[in-house]
Amino acid sequence: MRKIVFWGAAIAALGFIVPAAAQPIVIKFSHVVAEKTPKGQAALKFKEEAEKLLPGKVKVEVYPSSQLFGDGKEMEALALGDVQFIAPSLSKFDKFTKQLQVFDLPFLFDNIEAVDRFQQGPVGQKLLTSMQSKGFLGLAYWHNGMKQLSAKKPLLVPSDAKGLKFRVQASDVLAAQFQQLGANPQKLAFSEVYQALQLGTVDGQENTWSNCYSQKYQEVQSDFTHTDHGVIDYMVVTNASWWKKLPPDVQAGLKKAMDVATKLNNEVAGKLNADAKKKIAESGSAKIHELTPAQRAEWKKAMEPVWAKFEGGIGKDIVDAAKKSNGASKS
Ligand code: SIN
Repeated sequence: MRKIVFWGAAIAALGFIVPAAAQPIVIKFSHVVAEKTPKGQAALKFKEEAEKLLPGKVKVEVYPSSQLFGDGKEMEALALGDVQFIAPSLSKFDKFTKQLQVFDLPFLFDNIEAVDRFQQGPVGQKLLTSMQSKGFLGLAYWHNGMKQLSAKKPLLVPSDAKGLKFRVQASDVLAAQFQQLGANPQKLAFSEVYQALQLGTVDGQENTWSNCYSQKYQEVQSDFTHTDHGVIDYMVVTNASWWKKLPPDVQAGLKKAMDVATKLNNEVAGKLNADAKKKIAESGSAKIHELTPAQRAEWKKAMEPVWAKFEGGIGKDIVDAAKKSNGASKS
């Protein structure tokens, strides 16, 4: 025993202690949707690429379906360093910047291609840094897709929504959109929506096909309307000071992994939504209603007054750039 202590002390004195192997940086990526959605798949791709590009240097843990943090808690967790990446829907940044409300203006974007042009253009790219003063840095936009409406009755014209309670994300624009229809918006976390629909706490909701199908809303909603009236996309955000302190090679590797995940996300989003729409139709438990051009124009006319209420807070330059992304000028 004495010998061991002696040799231990001697090796230490000579500086021969073998340093412990460097521990990988643990990166927690938390989100609220199922794995079989665009965001769910992209988060897993990010993990795969990051660990491939930075072997032994990072370990990415992905927590789907609000397992780690749900809506309302994830931004706080990011600020506190309890999680390093989250990808909330753009509607959920309402409390942190008014500029991103542009994405919630109903019928502003004609389709997801227009959304993409806006996000990739100079104004969209600048918005990635719109929450830096609050300590959050946007690294990428990820598409989900266009939103649809559902309820326990057909919603074919705006007056069909009157008096109904609709679940909305934590966004004042989305609340105003339903108030404009004479309906009652209720802000609810994503993880609570199925039960609220089931119990009748709310009558209807708006979401993308992939979110509706992966949450099984067709079990508790009899009618879906293909409106494409708005968008659910995401911003992948990180804690700005944590990000700045990363070693340059780790930051570069994570950026590359994010590019690969973003590409995959945007390639699969359209197909996952189309498949989900088909599966809802085939479920036999819910009907999908397609609007005539005249019906769609009615919804648009009913919701558009919301723009005037929020344009000042968002910034006219931002709203104008978004309108331009449709290709033809919109008034
Ligand atoms: C999400 O896609 O992350 C959830 C959106 C929602 O809360 O409806």
